[in-house]
Amino acid sequence: MIVTRRYKFSASHRLHVPQLSDSENRQLFGKCNYPHGHGHDYVLEVSVRGPVDSATGRVLNIRALDRHVRDKVVDIFDHRDMNHDISDFAALVPTTENISTVVDKRLREGWERTFGDCKLVRIRIQETRRNTFELNTQ
Ligand code: NI
Repeated sequence: MIVTRRYKFSASHRLHVPQLSDSENRQLFGKCNYPHGHGHDYVLEVSVRGPVDSATGRVLNIRALDRHVRDKVVDIFDHRDMNHDISDFAALVPTTENISTVVDKRLREGWERTFGDCKLVRIRIQETRRNTFELNTQ
């Protein structure tokens, strides 16, 4: 059984690769390259796969998942300037592709201790109505 839970956070970024010229950056990233950054309301979906516990009828304790996602990701990212406030992006462009990988890595810290046999199988992040990125690790 796969359980998917949805979270939200708002954060700002600027997409800029220092090794590229200004015009190459504008060409590649468009508005997301504007110098002073801008925000997005990100929607994060976390999917977990595991057996249904016969005693509880549940795959996992949703409240424990909420606490874990809040501690590892939402409280770290929400209302932050990702380029400057989150050390993972000191040398990594905060595209949603890279945010997905960072979120996955952060959620795996202490995962087994908390969730045992339940596996983290998918991270999905919606940046805008038109852009959604999915990291599938099943
Ligand atoms: Ni952007």
